[in-house]
Amino acid sequence: MSLPKRVVLVGPMGAGKSTIGRMLAKELGYQFLDSDRIIEERCGANIPWIFDVEGEDGFRQRETAMLDELSLKHNTVLATGGGAIMRPENHRLLKQDALVVYLKTSIDQQVERTRKDRNRPLLQNDDPEAVLRKLFAIRDPLYTQLADIIMHTDRKSPRLVVRQLVNRM
Ligand code: S3P
Repeated sequence: MSLPKRVVLVGPMGAGKSTIGRMLAKELGYQFLDSDRIIEERCGANIPWIFDVEGEDGFRQRETAMLDELSLKHNTVLATGGGAIMRPENHRLLKQDALVVYLKTSIDQQVERTRKDRNRPLLQNDDPEAVLRKLFAIRDPLYTQLADIIMHTDRKSPRLVVRQLVNRM
């Protein structure tokens, strides 16, 4: 098995990017990086605060700068935010030296896994399911286009997803 320099996980909110990323990094002996958490640490504020004060545009600027910085880090597994694929200039940064894995997840699972979540500003409204559906329609083709591997995560434990991923590397 020849390991990629970096593994980059993309996919919607609730796909399991952070959980699976952390486990995969451990399995590969790589460092785990979570772009949203690092943005929060650097900013000294959480994502809802950033959206509130700087708007989604402000958050996207921070996200692009973070993806740029993290694109240079080898021997890493990177969990990205669900919207990281929205800016065309991010695509090169996500692909750089990386095996890009799309964690593909049904709307039902996304709803289930993001229920009662307060840290995702895009879902703080009356109908989070409708939002997830709309985002998926726009983003699924982009995740698919960028991905080297598409891994379905529905009805699978994170451990099984990691095992299947390692087998495909
Ligand atoms: C977002 C997903 C979130 C976070 C932000 C915006 C999106 O990350 O980056 O709330 O646009 O889908 P997760 O996918 O880790 O929830």
